[in-house]
Amino acid sequence: MKYLKIVGNKEIDGEITISGAKNAALPLIAATILSKNEIQISNLPNVVDINTFLKLIDMLGGSFKKVEDKVYIDTTKIDNTTATYDIVKTMRASILVLGPLLSRFGVCEVSLPGGCAIGQRPVDLHLKAMEQMGAVIEINHGYIKATAPNGLKGAKIVFDKVTVGGTENAVMAASMANGTTTIINAAKEPEIVQLCEIIQDAGVKIEGIGTSKIIIEGTNGELLDMKNFSVIPDRIEAGTYMCTAAICNKKLKINNIIPIHLEAVISKLEEMNFEILQEETSLTILPTNEIKPVNIITSEYPGFPTDMQAQFMALATQANGTSTIDERLFENRFMHVSELARMGADIHLNGNIATIKGNAQLNGADVMATDLRASSALVLAAIVANGETNIHRIYHLDRGYEDLEGKLSNIGVNIKRFTE
Ligand code: EPZ
Repeated sequence: MKYLKIVGNKEIDGEITISGAKNAALPLIAATILSKNEIQISNLPNVVDINTFLKLIDMLGGSFKKVEDKVYIDTTKIDNTTATYDIVKTMRASILVLGPLLSRFGVCEVSLPGGCAIGQRPVDLHLKAMEQMGAVIEINHGYIKATAPNGLKGAKIVFDKVTVGGTENAVMAASMANGTTTIINAAKEPEIVQLCEIIQDAGVKIEGIGTSKIIIEGTNGELLDMKNFSVIPDRIEAGTYMCTAAICNKKLKINNIIPIHLEAVISKLEEMNFEILQEETSLTILPTNEIKPVNIITSEYPGFPTDMQAQFMALATQANGTSTIDERLFENRFMHVSELARMGADIHLNGNIATIKGNAQLNGADVMATDLRASSALVLAAIVANGETNIHRIYHLDRGYEDLEGKLSNIGVNIKRFTE
C-alpha cells in the first residue's frame, strides 16, 4: 500500500492549475450512454474514479480511448445492462448508469450500493424517481433490477430531499422518456447545470436549468445527438488549494476556475480575514495578519459544500479563536476529527457539530485517510505541522485529486509517495 510523507513547512509560493471536476465528469460519462454517436470529452481529470467509470462503460459493451486529458467514448454497441457488485463496491457513483440505461434499454441491473465511510447514503430517492416514470423496481440478492419494457414516461418527480445523484439520474432518464418530466426540489450544483446543458445541446428541450424546478421534454426513445464538450473545473479541488494557501497564510494563485462556483468558499475565507483577488478564470488568495475563527453550516449548493468541510476544519485549527462546523448532509462525516486530534488538534464533537479550538500546535504523526476529503484535510494539517507526517491509505486521495503530489511539490510542499 502507498503512503504519503509530508514534512511540515509553510513556505509555499506560486500557482496551481485546477483540473476538470470529477463529480461533473462522472454523470457526463454516464450521459454518453444516451448518445447516438462517439463523444470526445476534454479536460477530464486523471483520477481513479474516472478510470473506474470508464471501465464500467467498457464492461457494458461500450468502448473508450484516452488521449492525454481527452477521452473518446462510444456507447453505440452497449449490449449489457448490468453494473456488477465488483464495480459498484469500489465506486458508488456507478448508480449513475441506472437512469440512462433504463431509459435507453428499458432494463438495468445495478448492485445496490452499501453505506460508506461518510454515512449510509441510501439510493431510495433515485429508485422512487424511476418508479414515478413508470419503472418497476425489484431488489433481489443485493441487486436493483429496474424494468420499463414500454419505455419510461414523463412524470412529476418531487424529491423529498435535495439529492445530487438522484437529480442527475432523473435528468438522464427523463431525456429519452415519453413526454414531459418536471423535477421539483432538484439539486442546483454546477455539475448538474453542466449535465443539463450538454443534454440540451444534444437537442433535448430543458427549462429551469440551475433552479430547483427542471422541466425536460423527453425524446420518446430516440438517442441524443450529443456534441463534444469540455468538463468544468473542479470547484472542490480549487477550494482545497485555497485552504492550503490559507493554512500556510501565504499568497497563492489558483488558475482555471469559475469564481462563481466558489462563492460560499470565498465568502468563508473572507470571514476568516483573507483577501481574495478574483479574475475571470483565476483567483489569488493573500496572507492576513490574523486568521479569524469561523462558523460553518454545510448545505446544498449554493450553500457551503460538505465536500469542503474537512479542509476548513484543518484550517480552523490555525485560527485565532474557536470555530464551529455543523455537518447537515451526511451523518458520519467527521472521521478526520480523530486523525487531526492525533496531530494535536483540539476538536470537540457533539453530534453533527464540531467545535475547533484555534492556535493549535500541530505535530507530525502517522495518520489514516478515511475518505477523499478527510484525506485532503490531513494533507493540509501535515503541511503546517512540526516534523514528518505519514498519511496512510492514500488510495482515497487518488480517487479524486489529480497529481496532488506534483501540484503541491510545485508550490514548495515537501511531499513524497512511498510504498509500505
Ligand atoms: C454527491 O454525492 C457527490 N458525489 C458527493 O461528493 C457530495 O458529497 C454529495 O453529492 C453532496 O454534495 C458525486 O457527485 C459523485 P446526495 P451524492 O445524493 O449524489 C441523502 C466527494 O467527496 N440521500 O446529494 O451521493 C444522502 O444520504 C463526494 O467527492 C438519500 O437519503 O449525494 C445524503 O444525506 C462524496 N436518498 C443527502 O441525501 C437518496 O436516494 C445528499 O446526498 C439519495 C441521497
